Amino acid sequence: MATLQPNARFFVAGIASAGLVGLLVATVFTDNVSLPNAVKSSASVYAAEQLDWFTDIEETGKVVQLDLVAAPTIITVGGVRINSFAYNGQVPGPEIRVKLGDTVRVKFTNQLPQETTIHWHGVRVPNAMDGVPGVTQSSVKPGESFTYEFVPKDAGTYWYHPHVNTDEQMERGLYGTLIVEDETANEFDRDITWVIDDWLIRNNELYPHFSTMHDLAHDGRWGNLITVNGQVSPTLNMQPNELVRLRLINVANARVIAPQLRGLETTVIAIDGLPVFDEISLEDLDLAPGNRIDLAVQAPAVASSRSFTLVDTFTRQANTVAHIAVIGSPLPTRNFDWHYTPASQWEGIENEPVDEVVELDAEGMHMMGISWLMNGRAFPNHQPIEASWEEFRVIELVNKSSRLHPMHIHGQFFRVISRNSDADIEPNWRDTVLVGPRERVRIALAPLEKGEWAFHCHALEHAEAGMITILSVE
Ligand code: C2O
Ligand code: CU
Repeated sequence: MATLQPNARFFVAGIASAGLVGLLVATVFTDNVSLPNAVKSSASVYAAEQLDWFTDIEETGKVVQLDLVAAPTIITVGGVRINSFAYNGQVPGPEIRVKLGDTVRVKFTNQLPQETTIHWHGVRVPNAMDGVPGVTQSSVKPGESFTYEFVPKDAGTYWYHPHVNTDEQMERGLYGTLIVEDETANEFDRDITWVIDDWLIRNNELYPHFSTMHDLAHDGRWGNLITVNGQVSPTLNMQPNELVRLRLINVANARVIAPQLRGLETTVIAIDGLPVFDEISLEDLDLAPGNRIDLAVQAPAVASSRSFTLVDTFTRQANTVAHIAVIGSPLPTRNFDWHYTPASQWEGIENEPVDEVVELDAEGMHMMGISWLMNGRAFPNHQPIEASWEEFRVIELVNKSSRLHPMHIHGQFFRVISRNSDADIEPNWRDTVLVGPRERVRIALAPLEKGEWAFHCHALEHAEAGMITILSVE
């Protein structure tokens, strides 16, 4: 069983740490990682059976159609009036729920005072539907519309958000969920999504300055008010014996969450949308910005007066996220036994040559601004990474900074195979992985979709400051 860096929590340095700026001055890229670039990986040996894991879908022909309008909206969060940006007047935006094989058609209209787009995070869409301005489409100007249409290829928990000025637009509340159901939907009494966000409130309003020097020099913008579906520490009432599929999504700009839910039977069943291959303990997982974790949560057989709490233990001081109460009359007993979707263990893959090294670092000076770089370049002055369709590529993400980088690749999935040279073959696919301070994370990427795909840090302030490149799959 792979271990997922158990308890290796990277503490976030105190919010007001002053010495940091010094670290960011004049970074030099002479460190030699001495790994051959562009060596064709024999990981293709591992590839065939793994690519088969992504089975073809049958289209149902059913079209789920929705109008989405992004507009400034006043909402109240934890008693504070917020000048939000919202989809259809609500934060989170409407949940789009379809069955695997259905077509999603979204007629999007931009009523914001600025350009925007919609990106479908984690969804394998045709490249032209991916929502990255200047790469897959032009941005949607105020007053304009754009229709997104695609058939999701994988069942699971996905979400949508803008890809323009994302540090501001997402902090103001632009995000929603896309749930793609398969037959496992019948195994649960209820299916619930918890969209976890944080808000930076100062002087009784949403702090209106984005990508500040402070945020750029640290781990991005961390709020001081955590919400679940827009509510502060809400309570979910479950009946005794009830079995809930609980989908956790971290939509915060930059906050990493280490979710713990003690006292209830919980099983991790999917990560970043896709079913896991084997047992994983929630205690060993981070929910970094962009990540999703699906849990099967089983209520005990009898109601109780104590409630159970989802806490976030990532920071020194734990945060309460939400509660679960078990009340009411019991549902019939059931024996929950999850059937894992097996995949090969990939033993030895950590010894495969690395095809590509991607260094993550910052450059800049306090007064002149900071850029966040991938291989020494800031977007749009990036160097694209090339991959051949359906040929595995082993990529080593090398964090040369002391900051957190939740790295996300559009349109594809990958598996983590090692951390800091130690084999750590995760029993799951991902689209986003947290790379801790000075950490090296090696991934095996399955380039399943052709086109030009954004590959970036999901700490949105880092992305806005250049931490984006393009993965080109041909
Ligand atoms: Cu949610 Cu480009 O990402
Ligand atoms: Cu980053």
